[in-house]
Amino acid sequence: MDPYDIINKYYPEDSLAKEILIKHSEAVANKAVRIAEHLGLSDDQIRFIFEAAMLHDIGIFLTKAPEIGCKGSYPYICHGYLGHDLLVREGYPKHAKVCERHTGTGIRKIEIKERNLPIPYRSMKPKTLEQKIITYADKFFSKDPAKLETEKSIRRIREKLSKHGENKVEKFDKWHKLFRISEKPSGRS
Ligand SMILES: [Fe+2]
Repeated sequence: MDPYDIINKYYPEDSLAKEILIKHSEAVANKAVRIAEHLGLSDDQIRFIFEAAMLHDIGIFLTKAPEIGCKGSYPYICHGYLGHDLLVREGYPKHAKVCERHTGTGIRKIEIKERNLPIPYRSMKPKTLEQKIITYADKFFSKDPAKLETEKSIRRIREKLSKHGENKVEKFDKWHKLFRISEKPSGRS
């Protein structure tokens, strides 16, 4: 499948939402693929990670987020499950799971209930390695039009996640240990 075909179907040419979606998704896909290669994942897994990372935010156009060109009516937090439903209709149920499981470090059923979130009552935590890698890579990039390609620092990511609970920071730290690509030590000649 070509993820750009699906993006082109739902996002008008030359729209702000499309420009932001593509730049953000390419940044996330690029980082997620580098991690997958570093971990030695198979070609099939890497291809899936690229496609699903390109589509993880496909649901944003249905939400109300005018600062990023999204003129829908749903609250922004709904973009995950809306993207999920869209990709299921398109025939991609496996990619769809990434859409609804990538928000923050994932959303637990109990949080949906306790915080009265306007999303379906089901576990939206990433479960597979591929889902976890994409969710982790996504935390490094915002959709702020001025900062689309700039990686956030670990300190900034942790700060943002801590607003939603310390357990989110712990989950991120756990993934960071598994997925970080350490810089090669500089050789001495
Ligand atoms: Fe994202």
